[in-house]
Amino acid sequence: MGKKVLVAIAWPYANGDLHIGHLAGAYLPADIYARYNRLVGNDVLMVSGSDSHGTPITVRADKEDLTPREVFERYHNRFLETQEQIGISYDLFTHTDTPNHHRVAQDLFLQLLEHGYIYKETQKQFYSETLQRYLPDRYVEGTCPDCGYLEARGDQCDNCGHLLDALDLIDPRCKIDGSIPVVRETEHFFLDLEKLQAVILAYLEEGKEDWRPNVLKFSINYVKGGLKGRPITRDITWGIPVPVPGYESKRLYVWFEAVMGYLSASIEWAKLSGDPDAWKQWWYDPEALTVYFIGKDNIPFHTIIWPAELKGIDRIYEDDPDKHLNLPYDVPSNEFMNLAGAQFSKSRGHMITLPDVLSRYDADAIRYYITVVMPETSDSDFLWDDFLQRNNGELVGVWGNLSHRVLSFTYKYFEAVPEPGPLAAVDQELLDKVPAAFESVGQRLAARQFRTALLEALNLAREANRYLEVKSPWVQLKQDKEAAGTSLYVALQAINALKVLLAPFLPFSSERLHQVLGYETPLFGEQYIEKVEADGETHHVLRYASESAAGKWAFEQLPAGRPLQKPQPIFKKLDESIVEEELARMGAA
Ligand code: MF3
Ligand code: ZN
Repeated sequence: MGKKVLVAIAWPYANGDLHIGHLAGAYLPADIYARYNRLVGNDVLMVSGSDSHGTPITVRADKEDLTPREVFERYHNRFLETQEQIGISYDLFTHTDTPNHHRVAQDLFLQLLEHGYIYKETQKQFYSETLQRYLPDRYVEGTCPDCGYLEARGDQCDNCGHLLDALDLIDPRCKIDGSIPVVRETEHFFLDLEKLQAVILAYLEEGKEDWRPNVLKFSINYVKGGLKGRPITRDITWGIPVPVPGYESKRLYVWFEAVMGYLSASIEWAKLSGDPDAWKQWWYDPEALTVYFIGKDNIPFHTIIWPAELKGIDRIYEDDPDKHLNLPYDVPSNEFMNLAGAQFSKSRGHMITLPDVLSRYDADAIRYYITVVMPETSDSDFLWDDFLQRNNGELVGVWGNLSHRVLSFTYKYFEAVPEPGPLAAVDQELLDKVPAAFESVGQRLAARQFRTALLEALNLAREANRYLEVKSPWVQLKQDKEAAGTSLYVALQAINALKVLLAPFLPFSSERLHQVLGYETPLFGEQYIEKVEADGETHHVLRYASESAAGKWAFEQLPAGRPLQKPQPIFKKLDESIVEEELARMGAA
């Protein structure tokens, strides 16, 4: 039995298609990490879902004259398909409008209330006299009181990342009609972050050596700057009802409940898998690793607010007083990936959506490039000519070329893994590099350093290509078939290993190679969309059948004589014209 690893991924707002920025910031690193841990034999639970509530959804609904439900259902269904296509292998991708999530969020709210971490206070809130409604923070824009950015949103400044109270904005204006809002009094529930400040600081200051320095520094400074109570209810109609009589016209604030989705989705997954208590292994076992993959604009919610909620709840659906809910073990937030010099942004339409890019390119080609330029330690750029170069030069030129040359040649002349003759030093040298590669690539993946992990794996492919140049089995074949067979045997061993080393990054092509190499059971479990009926409602989720991967992260010898299947090229060389085409498509040519 391996370690329990919870792979938690930020819940995308269901108000527009997923884009390359989402993939680079959170989904792809999370998936690589999850697949690696499964191959090693760890017990992975990977969860997320559509963030169905909040003003991002209602703003969109207003704009399109739809109901918020229509908006979120449309994009939720698209998220399921897109993520299945790009291979984000969630054990469960659900959404926050399920009866299960509502129940969990309300239970957690009540427990925080009971423990004295929620209080009531009359608050001033912007109200639009022209629209005759309260304006949620996101409906108000103005100048950031912390950094002076002119277009700060009422809930958060995109420039300095600070969470804001719309009332603190300088020169506030209504986002809907530009009018100047007035201030009205309204009663709300507040999360008492001040009470939890010392606990959160202690959490952040203990054992965080592995954390990315930017994430840790940002969070600690934030807490040291002083935490104030934050309102966690709103005067809106779309969202989770407040479970207290007399507050029927209010809803829970989206960020307060969305982070609870990590827990509610784990609970939903356990129910679906027939063991309703199974989620507790990831949430109560102190040895479990809980790793949260998010974009950097989500840092404070995951390093401060969610830990504060967990501390304030401490225990739920569990009687044993010695059990405590696990706080995030790591939050390896990425920086931003920029597109032509500016940040990807759904709200501003500056992006490449995943459904669009998947309609023209293979999932693994996209996954390869995004990993190579992943913004792990600083912002990075998505550039079409770089995409082309790396696809043709590295993915096709190094790995595709190696695997296809060797497999098609072997298939043509041997049809099976050749019987090797005695191995010479040059043969042994390549084979000796394989266990070392498992070691070093694995270490990087475990440490959540995905770019360098991929580069190291690719280096083994380069070594194998050099080996082939030296041995030239195509020349050997003409004089000495056994010698050629030996070279191909050795190269096939390296390919069989590379198939596994690259599988977390390139699951689709590795799965195909795995078949060509004569394996009968797949590397990974199957991913599928499922219709779930629960609590008298129906919803669709993305799931993963987790049986197969365990224990495959190791050098496994391909036996001589194993029949091969006819290989097809697994990667496509792209034509140079795509650069111009894509730039034109983006309106930037
Ligand atoms: N919906 C938010 C966004 O897209 C992320 C929510 S993460 C969660 O920025 F943990 F709160 F769910
Ligand atoms: Zn700011």
